Amino acid sequence: MKLIEGVRGMRDLLPAEAGAWRQIETAAAECFGRYSYGEIRTPVVERTDLFRRQLGLQTDVVQKEMYAFEDQGGDSLCLRPEATVPTVRAVISLVRARGGTTRVWYGGPMFRRERPQKGRYRQFWQMGAEAVSAGPPAPEIDAEQIIMLARLWRDLGVAGRLELSLNNLGSADERAAYRDALGKYFRSHEKDLDEASKARIDGNPLRILDSKDPKTAAVAQNSPRLADFLGKDSQRHESGVKEIISAAGIDFVDSPMLVRGLDYYNLTVFEWTLTGDERRQNALCGGGRYDGLSEQIGGPPLAGCGFALGLDRLAALCEEAQGEFAEDAPDCFIAAAGAGASYCMRAAETLRESGLSVWQHADGGKLGKQLNKADSINAALVVIAGSEEEQRGAVAIRRMKDGRQEEIAIENAGAFARKMLKEETKEAP
Ligand code: HAM
Repeated sequence: MKLIEGVRGMRDLLPAEAGAWRQIETAAAECFGRYSYGEIRTPVVERTDLFRRQLGLQTDVVQKEMYAFEDQGGDSLCLRPEATVPTVRAVISLVRARGGTTRVWYGGPMFRRERPQKGRYRQFWQMGAEAVSAGPPAPEIDAEQIIMLARLWRDLGVAGRLELSLNNLGSADERAAYRDALGKYFRSHEKDLDEASKARIDGNPLRILDSKDPKTAAVAQNSPRLADFLGKDSQRHESGVKEIISAAGIDFVDSPMLVRGLDYYNLTVFEWTLTGDERRQNALCGGGRYDGLSEQIGGPPLAGCGFALGLDRLAALCEEAQGEFAEDAPDCFIAAAGAGASYCMRAAETLRESGLSVWQHADGGKLGKQLNKADSINAALVVIAGSEEEQRGAVAIRRMKDGRQEEIAIENAGAFARKMLKEETKEAP
């Protein structure tokens, strides 16, 4: 029978990759924790209504990429395409009760039925953070998140590969006036636009600004600028953010064409992209302010700002920086060389009791073959349990690096193995 395949655009992560991801996730969680962000976990399945209007009826995500279905109770549910809206929903009562700003971070799979390619999947992973405030939008929050991300990139050794783009989308009113002007402009240049952009003139002309079509992009270059429609408050917010991040030594590029693919944003929007490779999916992390979102889902007026990074893309970048991901090697390999299975297991448990990781060989074969296996998985020590050792209540421990081998009473095997490993690291250049 032919093997039943996985779903297109959804990947398995095998131990080498999953282990490396866990390290990245741990580094991110630790970094976010240093900024007093606490973890939040929301469900993978949500009501479809939670997203439609909030992400934007005209957006690709809502129009064609949602995994929506009717459940047995007749409710329209979907696999979450992103986590900002659910997170805001989840923290509303906390923000109400506490006042001030609530900071949370999350990680997990998101689902969008996009056309799969390298770096773009239908199930992809994000880690993100959201700060939701009872008070007015404070530029320090936007700046703090950018500074926090810059720290994470440094911690992961990828800072040199990333570039920060910033834009100010102003308030809903300012954007409405701008949208009118932009719609008129694109209408007058309609013949030079690609088909997808033509269809956006009435509903969402801002999205035409980040079109990849060269002719459309040329038309967009000369379009009216949102900056000319911004009032004093929006300008003050922007300069507040820029002042703090500049003082923190963070470089950024002003990007008037950066509008983001989801509709809930106002004021600050930002994106970290990969430099030096135009062809691949290069948006690594995106975010911004969404001060109207809580009200849009029926909550009180709250200010909010957040971001999400694409873990699939970040992991690929870390692999480029660090070299190919490898599976964790065990400290010890138990070679069964004549001792009974329960004796071997006892040796393994003794070692584990001392905090060591142990690979229990269970595939038979002569000692030589077992040693080859231990070598191939990079085990540092081989613990040989032969029938004679068993009779003496001992095991032989061999250090693979230099072949040094000693017999030791089984109850002392853990401490001894740790000592041998420690000497090995000390001796290493
Ligand atoms: P987004 O720009 O849609 O924003 O996604 C954030 C990141 O997720 C992207 O920069 C990218 O790295 C990754 N990503 C998105 N789609 C895919 C895909 N199909 N395959 C692989 N990676 C992907 C949001 O989702 C917002 N919720 C961010 C946010 C949080 N804004 C405010 N708070």
